[in-house]
Parts: sequence; structure tokens; C-alpha cells
Amino acid sequence: MRMPTVRSLMVSAVAGSVAVGIGVLLLGVVDVLALADAIQISVGVACLGVLAAILIGQRRVDGKVQRLTRSHRKHADSTTMHEVEAELRARMRDLAHQMDEIAAALGEDRVMFAAHSGDISSGLSGVEDRVASKVADLSTRVSELSEGTSELSRGLSELRPRLDKLAVEMKALERSGEVGFKQLEAYVDLRGLIQPRAPMPALRGWAASPDVMRLLAETLWLEHPKLIVECGSGSSSVWLGYFAQHNGSARVVALEHDERYLEISRDLVRAHGLADVVEIRHAPLIPWEGEGATYLWYDTGAIEDLTDIGLLFVDGPPRQAGPHARFPAMPLLLPRCAHDVVIVLDDSLRDEESAISDQWLAAYPDLQRSVRQFDKGAHVFTRRAT
Ligand SMILES: C[S@@+](CC[C@H](N)C(=O)[O-])C[C@H]1O[C@@H](n2cnc3c(N)ncnc32)[C@H](O)[C@@H]1O
Repeated sequence: MRMPTVRSLMVSAVAGSVAVGIGVLLLGVVDVLALADAIQISVGVACLGVLAAILIGQRRVDGKVQRLTRSHRKHADSTTMHEVEAELRARMRDLAHQMDEIAAALGEDRVMFAAHSGDISSGLSGVEDRVASKVADLSTRVSELSEGTSELSRGLSELRPRLDKLAVEMKALERSGEVGFKQLEAYVDLRGLIQPRAPMPALRGWAASPDVMRLLAETLWLEHPKLIVECGSGSSSVWLGYFAQHNGSARVVALEHDERYLEISRDLVRAHGLADVVEIRHAPLIPWEGEGATYLWYDTGAIEDLTDIGLLFVDGPPRQAGPHARFPAMPLLLPRCAHDVVIVLDDSLRDEESAISDQWLAAYPDLQRSVRQFDKGAHVFTRRAT
């Protein structure tokens, strides 16, 4: 069946509405309806017909417009596609052309690379050889170095005991420096006390040190002993002579076992004009038995007249005389001492003198002992009236 056209539909709508309008109008004329109402209805129906026709026409126009738009779009799209395709083809051609150029260029480079690759690889192998020789060189040096290091550590361990010894020597040197200063200080002090008439005999070494001589001088100044006895003559005899002279009525008796030093000491005393103050008395070493042992000590005949000793300096006999050679001094001379007495045992840093000191302290409880940190060590025993 054929589809009605838009135009016929529009005409039908208008005609239909007009026919209905007329019919309604007739009903008004024949008084079925009020005339005014019939006119209004028929006008309304006619208007509706016209409106329907307009709407139908409108839809038709819209459809046409849509169709036209679609066809225009299709046309536009196809035009664009063609243009894009053409452009793409042109680019593809360009690309192909560039690819050809690149391939050609690559071809040249490949030739050049092939030409240079020989140089490069021979250069590389040269570098490899050099690196390998450097590595070998380095490893030789490392092993030499490690040998050197172990030699050094051997040397160091050999050096260590020497360094330790050196440190001990340094300490000793440091101490001797300190001691030297203290001795110098004491010596200056001592020299200030006297006005020698001849060069003073040396102190230290075989002779007594300045520190113990200063102690003796102090004792003379403080205690004013009448009789000073020393075991072992020498420089100290001269110094003690000056101190005794300075103090007035005191005198010094020095026991000397060795005839050679007896003369030397006597000469010294004479040279200093101290012969009336200092007596260097010969007392050979002979055995003395006491306290359960035998000692070589001064002949006791040389001490028989000594009484009221106020200061006793025990600096002999020398250790060559035998073990504990100085021990008899206390049992033999203490009975000849004044009640107030000072007894100085020199060289108490030595084990032997230290042991003698302990024996004395144990044997004579009425003595007080003080230990002096002197150059050679000195133990001072005192007995005071209560
Ligand atoms: C420890 S020394 C001390 C003598 C003395 N008390 C002194 O300080 O000078 C003891 C012995 O040294 C010896 N003597 C004395 N004069 C000496 C000298 N000029 N050189 C070496 N020894 C000496 C004596 O035989 C003395 O009995």
C-alpha cells in the first residue's frame, strides 16, 4: 500500500476540520446548538485542522533538514578522509625517502665502522695489555709492600724492648734531673753556711750527698752536739769541721780504716785549717762478734775514749768490708752517746742498710726512726730525754 504524502495529509487535515466546522455551524443554524457556541466550535475545529496541517508540514521540513544535514556531513567526512589519505600518502613517501637516505648513510657508516673496527680492536687489545701489565706491576708492589710491612712489624717488635728500656732510662734521667736540682739546692744552702779556706772537697759519688750534709748541718744548728762522730772519713769530715767550728765548742772524730784515705782526709782537714776541730782517727777493720754474728768493724780501741756523742753519722765501713758491715755501729757506739742523740744511717736506699736499720729499730725501742727520701736514702734515729 502506498504511503500518503505529507501534502495530502495536510489537505485532509484542513478539509476535515473545515467540514466539521461547517457541520457544527449548521447545527447552530438549525438551533440544535446556540449559534454563538456553534460558531466558536466550528472556528476552533477549523483552527485545529490548520494547526494539524502546520505540524505535519513542520515534521516534513524537519525530516528534510535532517536528511540534508546527514548527506552534507557524509560529504564533508569523505572529503576530509580523502585529504587525510592524501597527506598520509605524501608523508609515507617522505618517510620512505628518508629511510632510503638513512639506509644509504648507514651503509657508508658501516663501511667506515668496518674500516675503523680493526684499529679500535687493536687499540683495545693494547689497552688490555697495558692494564694487565699494570695489574701485575701493582700486585708485585702489593706483595713487596706486605713483605715490607711484616719486616716493619718485626723491626717494631725488636724495637719495643729497646723502647721500653729507653723509657726506663728516660724516667731515671728525669729522676736524676730532679734529684740533681735538689742536691744543687742543698749544696747552695750548705755553701751559704760556711766560708771555706780552701776549695771544698766534692760531695756525692763516693762521698755523702748535699741533702744528707744539710741534715747534719741542721742538727748541729739545732742540737749543738759537743761530739760528732762519723764512721768513714772523707769530704764530709771537712764540711762537718766547718759546721762544728761555726757552732763553737763542738769537735769531730772520723774513723778511717784505710790508711791511704786516712792521709788524704788528714791533708784535707789541714788544708782547711780544721785540724783542731776534726780528728781523722785510724781504726782498722777487725772482726767483731755480737748479736749472733761476726762483722768486720773498726777496732773498738779507737772508740774507747768517746763519750757523750750528740751526732753520729754512720757512713762506713764500705760494703766491701762484708755483709751488714755497718750493723755494729749501734751496739758499740750507742752506749757512748749522749742521752739526746741523732744517729744518721746513710745509703739506706740499699737493701743492706735498710735491713740494718730495721734490726736497729727492733733492738732499740727507745729510738725513733724517720725515713728521709734523700739521694741515697737516709734513716734518722733519735733519742730524746723524756
Ligand atoms: C762512703 S765513703 C764516705 C766517706 C765520708 N763520709 C764522706 O762522705 O766523704 C767511705 C769510705 O770512702 C773512702 N774514701 C775516703 N776518701 C776518699 C776519696 N777521696 N776517694 C775515694 N774514697 C774515699 C774511705 O775509706 C771511707 O771510709
